[in-house]
Amino acid sequence: MYEVEEKPFLSGKDLEFIYEGIKQGDRILLGEEYNRIEAQIRLMIRYHWKRGIKEGVKGYLFFGPPGTGKTLTAFFIAYRIGALPNRTFYIDVGNIAAKYFGDPEKRLRRVFLEGKNLGRVIYIFDDAESAFFSRRLAKEAWQYSLVAVMLHEIDKIDTSKEALIMTTNMPELLDPAIKDRLYPVVFIPSLKTLIKYIDWRLEQLGIPEIREEIVEKVKVMYEDVKEDLKNIENNPEILLYDETGDVSRLLREKMPSIRRIEKMIIAKFAMNIIKKEA
Ligand SMILES: Nc1ncnc2c1ncn2[C@@H]1O[C@H](COP(=O)(O)OP(=O)(O)OP(=O)(O)O)[C@@H](O)[C@H]1O
Ligand SMILES: [Mg+2]
Repeated sequence: MYEVEEKPFLSGKDLEFIYEGIKQGDRILLGEEYNRIEAQIRLMIRYHWKRGIKEGVKGYLFFGPPGTGKTLTAFFIAYRIGALPNRTFYIDVGNIAAKYFGDPEKRLRRVFLEGKNLGRVIYIFDDAESAFFSRRLAKEAWQYSLVAVMLHEIDKIDTSKEALIMTTNMPELLDPAIKDRLYPVVFIPSLKTLIKYIDWRLEQLGIPEIREEIVEKVKVMYEDVKEDLKNIENNPEILLYDETGDVSRLLREKMPSIRRIEKMIIAKFAMNIIKKEA
């Protein structure tokens, strides 16, 4: 069978657009809670690197509802630590499993092999649940062995020069042995941050006049999940170890995530332009 020999990750040149986006201020990280997480994880990684701690914290698991800034925060850490674009490996985990790209295990090993050659590096494994399923849920042989390879690679991480960030919005699907090896960080935006995002985005698009309408909608949505969010903030294990997936599902359906707000804004934006320019 013909195999596409494409590298299983983005790095260097591929990541320049993200690097430039952050540098030019087109992408920003709003919210105290986000900047606190970013600083904490960055300081942890830097501490290991500076002091040459080889067997430290193997990696970080960013979990939380879809569209709450997990991927963005990972990129900000890479940027602020100085690893973006050239010493960051971005792995879309869904892609690693795509059969036509060749042997998934080999592809996964290749990521770490290249990383170890490079010196100080950050690996971002995005949407990890799309291939590192809990073995309880795995159906095919490669799914088992891919998790086994990942566990092995995590154990081999030299924390004095490598750092790993994994993201997932369905922690209930992720293999528990992987979860156990990583330091968990929950992502839940505050209402204040959501409103900050609305203001920033409307300013950027030049439509501040729709602010009140959007803010009102978001406040109502937030009120509906406020108690659940508070519980999860106080006790993130509710979400991390929820085998039923009910907590994820509830948040996925009801949470006014930043991505959902963005969609609301764009819908309004489109209508406004049509009105203005017609
Ligand atoms: N703190 C923030 N400040 C500014 N923009 C943000 C922030 N968090 C998220 N965003 C924006 O919201 C959108 C969704 O963010 P992102 O893709 O990082 O979410 P995610 O948690 O990785 O979602 P998923 O679980 O679906 O992968 C992006 O457009 C991102 O730029
Ligand atoms: Mg993401």
